[in-house]
Amino acid sequence: MIKKKIFNNGVEIPMLGLGVYQTKDGAETVNAVKWALEAGYRHIDTAAVYGNENSVGLGIKESGIPREEIFLTTKLWNEDIRKGRELEAFEESLKRLQTDYVDLYLIHWPVENREKSWKVLEEIYASGRAKAIGVSNFQQHHLEKLLAVAKVIPAINQVEAHPYLNNNELADYCRSKGIAMQAYSPLGGTGGNLLENEVLNKLAEKYNRTPAQIVICWDIQRDFVVIPKSVHKDRIISNLEVDFELLPEDMEVINSLNCGKRFGPDPDHFDF
Ligand SMILES: NC(=O)c1ccc[n+]([C@@H]2O[C@H](COP(=O)([O-])OP(=O)(O)OC[C@H]3O[C@@H](n4cnc5c(N)ncnc54)[C@H](OP(=O)(O)O)[C@@H]3O)[C@@H](O)[C@H]2O)c1
Repeated sequence: MIKKKIFNNGVEIPMLGLGVYQTKDGAETVNAVKWALEAGYRHIDTAAVYGNENSVGLGIKESGIPREEIFLTTKLWNEDIRKGRELEAFEESLKRLQTDYVDLYLIHWPVENREKSWKVLEEIYASGRAKAIGVSNFQQHHLEKLLAVAKVIPAINQVEAHPYLNNNELADYCRSKGIAMQAYSPLGGTGGNLLENEVLNKLAEKYNRTPAQIVICWDIQRDFVVIPKSVHKDRIISNLEVDFELLPEDMEVINSLNCGKRFGPDPDHFDF
């Protein structure tokens, strides 16, 4: 049974979800979503820019699991912020997802004009069509600017986070403001080499688990909502099997791997 985290507005999010970045639109996404829901996941993380919202919606429908039992996140893309078409973009996402609400709507990247966009997200939230709203890739200084004008405090900040970039300082700041933390690319992303790390492999041996399970467990134990991606049924299933606990000293060992290494773009220097 996956634990839930309670947002600052009372909405509950399952601590573990399936990510679908780079999961191909069509059968690959439909299957991944269906396998995940069949295995017991109740949380899917997509984005308009992933180009697979349609297939996520289809996977949910075909799973036969009632929509209200599933926590669904999507994100507002940068171009839509720049063009001031936040509401249209949100409605297009709902249409593709074949649903009339999302559980969480995020500003995907801290592009200029994001404070203006946040006002639109607040309206969407007030309308009930997003049960919670939040941000992604926000550093402390981005949040400070947003909080100066926000009426609704973001429920969550979804950022790159894994043992090489544990983001503990940002997490301390977010928590002091009532903002939950969410780890993306928790396994080091596609093509990363995190899971080859010797320390993680030693811990995997010690607990008789996979390195991925060690990292996912570490995230949940340090109160980060986590969304590993896979298109393989066996991995989707095994990534959910994290009903074990790491000893405090092993949590520390993983924390000590932090070296500030990013596998993805830097939120302070991105050009898309
Ligand atoms: N907000 C943002 O800007 C942002 C950015 C990036 C990601 N995200 C979200 O976070 C999710 C996760 O991040 P991510 O997709 O970048 O990377 P990730 O989940 O850290 O890693 C995915 C990679 O790990 C492999 N993998 C999965 N389970 C494994 C296992 N048990 N053993 C070995 N390898 C395994 C996957 O391969 P296979 O698929 O071949 O199994 C894939 O290559 C995304 O899907 C997306 O929803 C958000």
